[in-house]
Amino acid sequence: MGFAINGQTQLIGVIGWPIEHSLSPAMHNAALDALGLNWRYVAMPVRPDEVVTAVRGLAALGFRGCNVTVPHKPAVIPALDSVSPEAEALGAVNTLVFTRDGEGAAHIAGHNTDVAGFIGDLRANGFEPEGRRIVVVGAGGAARGVVYGLLRAGAVHIVVLNRTVERARQLVEDLTQNDRKQEARGKIEGADNENPASCIAPPASCIAPPASCIVHPLTDETLVELARGADLLVNTTTVGMWPKVEGCVWPEGAPVPADLTVYDLVYNPPETRLLRLARQSGARAIDGLGMLARQGALALDLWTEQALNVEAVTALMRREAVSLSIVRDPSNPMLRSRSQYQSVAALCDGSAVPASPRRRPRRK
Ligand code: ATR
Repeated sequence: MGFAINGQTQLIGVIGWPIEHSLSPAMHNAALDALGLNWRYVAMPVRPDEVVTAVRGLAALGFRGCNVTVPHKPAVIPALDSVSPEAEALGAVNTLVFTRDGEGAAHIAGHNTDVAGFIGDLRANGFEPEGRRIVVVGAGGAARGVVYGLLRAGAVHIVVLNRTVERARQLVEDLTQNDRKQEARGKIEGADNENPASCIAPPASCIAPPASCIVHPLTDETLVELARGADLLVNTTTVGMWPKVEGCVWPEGAPVPADLTVYDLVYNPPETRLLRLARQSGARAIDGLGMLARQGALALDLWTEQALNVEAVTALMRREAVSLSIVRDPSNPMLRSRSQYQSVAALCDGSAVPASPRRRPRRK
């Protein structure tokens, strides 16, 4: 049970547009309760034309920080006093930290915990990206963080496949150019090494070649062909996401190579059609809830400055997200069968889904 809100309650939250379906308030408040902190996390809808005003207002109101989600990740940058190397390279911020200097002036720092959330989750699932060959499907905002993280973690070969190939080309060009700019200023090497959100940081030289990064148009044939020689396939597109759960980037009828690891950033539903096909073919399948939980735990670590046990907080947040994703929408097909419920519950690393009546699947 959490603290009652009182005069000492510290505030954090998330801004986005829309924001009402966010799992973050439940994940963070569960973690704050478990940590015994008199803090609350709230979801705040912010219109795109009011982002900068809203962020400065949160700092003035004494918020400790906030998460930033779609579509504001690039748009908040003009409101910031400092930006971490990852966030700068990607042009996307997902976590703000508000502090005061000696004179009491507000300072707003921007970070990106999505990158470390993804790489950390891969490693937590036993996949080390260094020296690996990887196929990334998609070239939107999520793909940028994934490709950036994989390059920094030492992947040797990355192919970016996208429906709109020009967007993939731009992604690769931007990331390599940003890297060169940062390297020239010496900003990546050694930067933020104390900060767990940058735990993927090898020397900056790892971003540049010897890793090769190429692009292709996304077709069934190229995907199947390229996946055959790869160690990891990452879906960063929105294909397969609720409510279009039948969508799948992998073509029907083609077996997924059994030695491939398949990672889907989509977390609603936790088991996408792509992951189901992968499991059925004997391939390793990793859902997007681990990354969601880990980026949240890393953000909480930045705000609380309490040297959190990030692994434990990630596991707790993930459990909360899994239990919520089962009942988020009454028409969600995941609610319709007991066996599906059990397969989702099994995603909780063997832990039971909390048995509160609110979270139990409805029965017909
Ligand atoms: P995000 O910030 O979540 O990455 P985004 O920037 O809108 O979202 O990017 C969505 C990604 O999903 C893009 O790579 C998009 O492909 P295009 O660049 O060609 O638009 C991809 N995507 C969305 N719907 C798709 C579909 N039906 N088939 C293939 N790719 C799709």
